Amino acid sequence: MSSSSKFSRRTTITHAGRHPHDNHGVVNPPVYHASTILQPSLDAFEASRKPDWKGYRYGRAGTPTSRSFEEAVTELYGAAGSVAVSSGLASITNALLAVTKAGDHILVTDNAYGPTRRFCNTFLARFGVETTYYDPSLGAGIDALFKDNTVAVFTEAPGSQTFEMSDIPAIAKAAHDRSAVVLMDNTWASPLYFDAFNKGVDIVVEAVTKYICGHSDVMMGIIVGNDDWAGPVRDMAKMHGNACGPDDLYLAQRGLRTLAVRMEQNQANGLALADWLRGRPEVKRVLHPGLTNDPGHEIWKRDFTGASGLFSFVLNEGYSRAALAALLDGLELYGMGASWGGYESLIIPANPTDYRTATPWTEAGQLLRIHAGLEDVDDLIADLGAGLDRLTAVDSAAR
Ligand SMILES: Cc1ncc(COP(=O)(O)O)c(C=O)c1O
Repeated sequence: MSSSSKFSRRTTITHAGRHPHDNHGVVNPPVYHASTILQPSLDAFEASRKPDWKGYRYGRAGTPTSRSFEEAVTELYGAAGSVAVSSGLASITNALLAVTKAGDHILVTDNAYGPTRRFCNTFLARFGVETTYYDPSLGAGIDALFKDNTVAVFTEAPGSQTFEMSDIPAIAKAAHDRSAVVLMDNTWASPLYFDAFNKGVDIVVEAVTKYICGHSDVMMGIIVGNDDWAGPVRDMAKMHGNACGPDDLYLAQRGLRTLAVRMEQNQANGLALADWLRGRPEVKRVLHPGLTNDPGHEIWKRDFTGASGLFSFVLNEGYSRAALAALLDGLELYGMGASWGGYESLIIPANPTDYRTATPWTEAGQLLRIHAGLEDVDDLIADLGAGLDRLTAVDSAAR
């Protein structure tokens, strides 16, 4: 049973990459633990060493378990091919290495995931690739930043701490007019809510760790490419010896099957929390492109078909650290830790001032990032409301 593009993405996630009747009717693809893969004859062995070999040759190069997951994600994106790698960051670094060489220049959005910037500023710089960060709101105006040696534009929308939207089709057009390749970190929206390849993206990188896995128990990334780039990104990942364990691949494909129902709930809870936070006196600003008053709302509404559960808000200026600790330490339902996209709610403080360069972050109040999990939203609101009450109570008591 394989799905095709005549079905909606919700249907595709349920069926793509599964071939039950090749596997005794078992619904889920089996887990192949493999390093050595035997060939039955000298002819087959020699054929398996050729670059165009379509079968299996060695565990690191791919197994039926990795192929079924990659096939599902490729189909979901309507792309040409994909390669699963050991983390979301590995998808970013391998994709950037696949599109650059010494002497090149790339444009990277100023709200990109922190370790993406670190990779550009250190590793790529060391190997002679120059990075310019751009204002995520530039749109077609990005054209002014191109140099003769600009080969790639790296986008991420919305940014995963500050949630500015970018006009991806306009950026992609400007890039393609200059023969540059467009990469996008699409972890926030996933293939479900942003149809990246139809909006001009050539290579998608995504942290499977987040929504596709969905249960906070797997590290994995995927690089998805169009006709021009599926091969080169796969080659780069394989050249680095980057491979995923079979049990993690199994968990990732199992997570994928429920992506649509989970994300609907993450989205609904996130929007409800964001809207409620807007009315709280402790809150200066809520950063969520799904809110009608958000500066990125029009672009989000035009290009995206949904929102994830990840957004931020800024507290009014002047609260003490003790008050912030009272808010955060007393929460019962929100964990404090890296990552997002799981079934559980999270909250972390963040400080974009530390890394922004093209568009300095000027908010003086504390930024808090929330991941809305799948809990009952009334419980989430009550828990956060009690936290905000503690925030105010601690500072009032100190006065
Ligand atoms: C937007 C974004 N992209 C990529 C990554 C990297 O994923 P991983 O943690 O699997 O390396 C993260 C992780 O937090 C992220 O938030």
